[in-house]
Amino acid sequence: MSSLTPAYPIPHPFDEEQPFFFNPPEDDQDLPLKEIPGSYGAPLIGAVLDRWDFYYNQGRDGFFSARQEKYKSTVFRANAPPGPFIAKDPKVVVLLDAVSFPILFDTTKVEKKNVFDGTYMPSVNFTGGYRVLSFLDPSEPKHNALKSYFFNVLASKHDNFIPVLGKSLTELFNNLESQLAKSKEVNFNPISDNASFNYVFQLFCDKSPSETGLGAQGNKTVDIWLVPQVIPLVSVGVPKFLQLVEDLLIHTFPIPAFLVKGKYKTIFEAFSSAASPILDQAKDFGLERDEACHNLIFLTCFNTYGGLKVLFPSLFKWLGRAGPTWHANLAKEIRNVVKQEGGVVTFAALEKMPLLKSVVYEVLRIDPPVPFQYAHAKEDLVIQSHDASFKIKKGEMIFGYQPFATKDPKVFENPETFVPYRFMGKAEANLKYVYWSNGRETEAPTADNKQCAGRDLVVLVARVMLVEFFLRYDTFTCTDEVFLVGSKVTFTSLTKAGTVKTKS
Ligand code: HEM
Repeated sequence: MSSLTPAYPIPHPFDEEQPFFFNPPEDDQDLPLKEIPGSYGAPLIGAVLDRWDFYYNQGRDGFFSARQEKYKSTVFRANAPPGPFIAKDPKVVVLLDAVSFPILFDTTKVEKKNVFDGTYMPSVNFTGGYRVLSFLDPSEPKHNALKSYFFNVLASKHDNFIPVLGKSLTELFNNLESQLAKSKEVNFNPISDNASFNYVFQLFCDKSPSETGLGAQGNKTVDIWLVPQVIPLVSVGVPKFLQLVEDLLIHTFPIPAFLVKGKYKTIFEAFSSAASPILDQAKDFGLERDEACHNLIFLTCFNTYGGLKVLFPSLFKWLGRAGPTWHANLAKEIRNVVKQEGGVVTFAALEKMPLLKSVVYEVLRIDPPVPFQYAHAKEDLVIQSHDASFKIKKGEMIFGYQPFATKDPKVFENPETFVPYRFMGKAEANLKYVYWSNGRETEAPTADNKQCAGRDLVVLVARVMLVEFFLRYDTFTCTDEVFLVGSKVTFTSLTKAGTVKTKS
C-alpha cells in the first residue's frame, strides 16, 4: 500500500485491527437440495408476458427483484428477454447471488457457444460470415487460436496504451470544456464515444479514423452497425402508447444485417488497410487474414468501444454522485504520486494510487458494464446459492444477472452504496467477488477460459481516464439518467485544477 496518508476519514479497511469489510460466504456447506422455483408459463404467452415485465411493467431490476421476492430465492426459473421470435428458447435458470454466479465461469461445466448476446445470436452476416471469438466456446480450436492472437496483439501495443489514451483524453476534455463554455449542460456520452473510438482505432491501427474512409466521426458509422445487434436487449424508453410498436419493431424479429451492409463495408475497408501490420501476424496463429480482420473489428468496435460506451459515463456518474470531497481526495492522491514519478503517468505510478484503484473497481462492482451472462449446462449440475443447492439439467440455459450478484448483501456491506474505498487495504481480498470481466477480478483471462481478453486494458483505461481528469480538474458536477444498457451523463460544471482551495 502507498505511504500516502489519506486526508479522508477511512473506516475499518485501513485499520489492520478492524474486521474485514465484507462477509465472505462459507464454502462447501451441506445445503439442502431444493427444486428450482419459478415457471415459464404457457408456451409463447409466458415468454411474452415475462418480456413485457422486463421492458415495461417492472423494468430490468424490478423484473429480477420481484421474482426473487416471490420465490424467496436467488435462483429461479424465468423467460429471458427478448424471447419470441428472436430467441428460439428463452427458458433460463436465473442466478442472482455471488455464490451461484461463478458457475458461469467454469467452462468445464458450462458451454459458452453462441451465448455472447444471450438467448439469441445475431446473424453472422454482421461479421463477414464468421462466428467471431466472443461466440466461441473454449472447446472449439479457433477459440484458442484467436484469443492467443489477440493476447499477442495487445502485448505488442502495451507501450502505446497510456500515451495514445492521453492524446484522446486531451481531445475529449478540450471538447467538453469548449461545449460547456457555450452551454450550461453538456451531454458527455457522444463526446466520450468519439474519444474512445478514436483511441481504440489509433491503438490498433496506428492511425486516426479521420485518415480513413471512416472519417472523424467514424464511431457513428460503428454505432449503426452495433445497434441492430444489441437493440433486442433494451427499451429505448418510449411513451406508454408506443410500447407495443417498439416491442414489435425491436424485440420480436431480428433486424437483418443487410440493412447495415454498406456501413460494415466502410468499417471493414478501414481496418483491412489501416491494421495491416497486426493482420499480417494472424498467419502465425493459423488464421486467415480475412477472418482475423472481422475478428479485429468485433474486438475493437463491439468488445472495446461498446464496453467503453458504458464504462466511461458510469465512472463520472458515480464520482459525480460521490461529490467534491471525494474529488479532492482523488486529486490529492493522483497529483502526489504523479509528482513523485516525475510528472509522468506510468504503469508504476498507477499502482501507487490505492484510492483510485478502489474507485475503479467499485464502479465496476456497482455497475458492471455488461450486466448479463449466459451459458448452457454441459452436464447435469448441482449449483449452490447461499442457502440451498439446486439441480440443473444438461442443456439448460443459465442466466446470471450480474448487478445483483455483485451487490449481494451477504457479501458486501451496504451493497447499493458507492463506497470509494471499498477495496482498499485488506478489503482488496473482496475483489474475488467482482465479476465484470466474466471472471473473478483475482483471476486472469487465458486462451482456455472465457474471461474478457481486455480485462487489464479496461482497468487501465478507467484509471488513466480519472488520473488525466483529476490532473486537469479539481471537481465537477453532473446529472445522470438511465440510457439503454448504461447511463447518460450530463456535465453541468467543470472546475479547473488549482481553483479549489484544499488543505495540504
Ligand atoms: C469496458 C470495456 C469492456 C467490458 C465491460 C468487457 C466485458 C466483457 C465480458 C463480460 C465478456 C464475456 C462475455 C461472455 O462471454 O459472457 C468479454 C469477453 C471478451 N472481451 Fe471484453 N470487455 C471490455 C473491453 C474489452 C477489450 C478492451 C477487449 C480487447 C481489446 C475485449 C475483448 C474481449 C474478448 C476477445 C472477449 C471474448 C473472450 C473469449 O471468448 O474468451 N474486451 N468482455
